[in-house]
Amino acid sequence: MYGAPERIELKSTEQILLMRQAGLVVANALQAMSEIAAPGVSTADLDAVARDVLADAGATSSFLHYDIGSGPYPAVICASVNDRIVHGIPSPQELLADGDLVSIDFGAIVEGWHGDAAVTVLVGDVSPEARAMSDACRESLWAGLAAARVNGRLTDISHAVESSVRKAGRYGIVAGYGGHGIGSSMHMAPHILNYGKAGKGPRLTHGMALAVEPMITLGSQRTQELDDGWTVSTVDGSWAAHWEHTVAVLDDGLWVLTAQDGGREELSRRGVAVSALAA
Ligand code: MF3
Ligand code: CO
Repeated sequence: MYGAPERIELKSTEQILLMRQAGLVVANALQAMSEIAAPGVSTADLDAVARDVLADAGATSSFLHYDIGSGPYPAVICASVNDRIVHGIPSPQELLADGDLVSIDFGAIVEGWHGDAAVTVLVGDVSPEARAMSDACRESLWAGLAAARVNGRLTDISHAVESSVRKAGRYGIVAGYGGHGIGSSMHMAPHILNYGKAGKGPRLTHGMALAVEPMITLGSQRTQELDDGWTVSTVDGSWAAHWEHTVAVLDDGLWVLTAQDGGREELSRRGVAVSALAA
């Protein structure tokens, strides 16, 4: 936040195409994990599925051995159950139960280019409140993505996420965590807050790629890090949801690189153009 802003990496068409390959690996893995998530399945079982998808695709993990100062991350996914918000470490001891929410976050690298996305999966019969919160989080993700455009400003996205969440209900918008630029590394400039005024921050230009990732809770926005040095949970024990996509901002429209359909369905519904590159 201080001094000169870090420059935002601009991608060539070739680089965006590699990021799309990474994005499709991420989409496939998240779908495979969503399909097996059920009572009695462990979060380590989910991680094993993601490892298989990586191996089959000849891709590598964005997360494995990632180090933000608490030592190398030991898995290829983050699995955050119920009151855990993000960065939960999968474990064979952690079994999903009927009614749980599990947020699964996954990143893949193809020829040096990253894709990053997350979904919140409902395990069995989930309460209407928790289900509505996950739906509100997903909706706010698409509202944020749809607000990105060449010549727009970064906080147009933040503002769209916040407005969407506030419209949906009385949810906590997690403080201190947010989205990020992505490309030749997973986490790059700029940081993308999930709240704030529109029309501020860097101007968006052709070739930027952004990971938009709202995190909301049924209670307060306050977070705590657990003793494992990674897992972030709510302080009040309220449940949380987390949805994320990587989007490319291009002159002729957007391309949601981690969505199977490139974002076509959700963007079209919101009157937003999809880049011809996505065809
Ligand atoms: N996708 C996550 C994020 O953007 C990164 C997970 S951190 C890791 O916050 F260590 F697990 F890689
Ligand atoms: Co991310």
